[in-house]
Amino acid sequence: MPDEGLPAGSTRDALVAELKRRFETEGLPEPDSDARALVCGLLDIGLTELVLDREAPVSANELEQVRAAAARRCGREPVHRILGHRPFFGLDLALSAETLEPRPDTETLVRAVLPFAKNHAAQNGGCRLLDLGTGSGAICLAVLSEVATARGVGSDISEDALRTARDNARRAGVRNRFETVKSAWFTNIEGVFDLIVSNPPYIPTGEIAGLEPEVRDFDPVAALDGGPDGLDAYRAIAARANAHLAPGGRIAVETGFDQHCAVAALFEEASFLLLERVRDFGGNDRVLVFSKSASGQ
Ligand SMILES: C[S@@+](CC[C@H](N)C(=O)[O-])C[C@H]1O[C@@H](n2cnc3c(N)ncnc32)[C@H](O)[C@@H]1O
Repeated sequence: MPDEGLPAGSTRDALVAELKRRFETEGLPEPDSDARALVCGLLDIGLTELVLDREAPVSANELEQVRAAAARRCGREPVHRILGHRPFFGLDLALSAETLEPRPDTETLVRAVLPFAKNHAAQNGGCRLLDLGTGSGAICLAVLSEVATARGVGSDISEDALRTARDNARRAGVRNRFETVKSAWFTNIEGVFDLIVSNPPYIPTGEIAGLEPEVRDFDPVAALDGGPDGLDAYRAIAARANAHLAPGGRIAVETGFDQHCAVAALFEEASFLLLERVRDFGGNDRVLVFSKSASGQ
């Protein structure tokens, strides 16, 4: 927090330095980037502007807002939850109480399916996409924003998440190609899709209490809890995906770093063919891509 002595009219630089000191004292893992991200977000400026206009004065109102936000960050609330939105694959996504904060690792899933979505759309004039457990809409909206003729359905058990996903579709300019369905996995899903994607909850229940407070206390538990072994959602999805995947289509799922083998086995048992295993930028196993097997066509 800028200390009580930091007066209105202090520079942006002084404000960032003060926040950084406070976050260091609190033992936060990334004090410098958190301080910059909070100041930029609250002052509605980019990092470049922060650097170029470092001597610009901060108003009393801005100081007060930053002070309140810094106190929340010291309570371990993540920066983007405090700001209420975060970037994902070039989009600016609003967050709400029941949406997971989309992670950079999930961009790996978007990158893994985009070539298929683009090719399919080019050859067939469109691509029908289903995003199971859409949350903020991150994966589906990223694909729709890249593939102008694709249409998407985002499903979730949370009404709050679906409302936020629709709002994000409007913000991304793809609302006319995005529908939402309240559904426990495939329960209320109708029709057939060329591409099914999901980043389901995959943390084993017993590991949730040991997660970082930023995740444990601020991401919704329904977005994290994958059941006793973390694989409940994959079982539910694999069991019913075949009926909703078009011949020649793809299903791609994000997994935990140590779940590739178990999840691949579940889908292979459900007669899918593993086409690709993809690692994230940290080198961890992250995404599996399947098609129907020859017999499942
Ligand atoms: C890990 S989050 C992923 C959110 C978003 N797709 C992303 O990648 O940022 C999992 C999502 O699945 C939803 N979910 C949990 N259980 C579900 C169920 N039984 N049926 C449908 N969605 C469910 C949660 O509400 C949450 O939005």
